[in-house]
Amino acid sequence: MNRQEGRALVEKYAEKDTTIRHLVSVEGVMRALARHFEEDVERWGLAGMFHDLDQDQTHDAIARHGYQSVEWLEAEGYDDSEVLNAILAHGEERYRTDLMSRSIVHADGVSGLLVACALVRPQRAEGMKVSSVKKKLKEKSFAPGVERDKIRGVEESIGVPMDEFIAISITGLQEVAPEIDLA
Ligand SMILES: [Fe+2]
Repeated sequence: MNRQEGRALVEKYAEKDTTIRHLVSVEGVMRALARHFEEDVERWGLAGMFHDLDQDQTHDAIARHGYQSVEWLEAEGYDDSEVLNAILAHGEERYRTDLMSRSIVHADGVSGLLVACALVRPQRAEGMKVSSVKKKLKEKSFAPGVERDKIRGVEESIGVPMDEFIAISITGLQEVAPEIDLA
């Protein structure tokens, strides 16, 4: 499946613009991380794009979250088991079995913070600095929904120091920013 086909599935299943923005921003971060690790950029991107595909349908049935996305994707003929595993991994620790499935947890956390940062800047994602993102990370009242532990645990989990991780993630967000009104 290529990016365009993945994007069409996002349009088909995600209902809210905020959900689409979240999916595409995590996609951007995952693509940048894949490049960093010299992994498959397209497949990592799809894992990011699909990780919360069922967000708008499962928020009241949290036990279905992730599994519903996997079911839809399989019904669409998509059977990349590593990507499907990564989707389940963002919610459940037992699926965090490889680099992609561990990375998605951190991509999920940091992209929430980066999008919140971009939304309060006149230039949005453009020119965003690691230092200012770190300041917002410490400010607990800023974007309180962001799971900060997912960002702080990154070095221990995937071996990328936090400053570098934030820098990679900013680049990833900037690449998709025009598509989600953050450029
Ligand atoms: Fe997410």
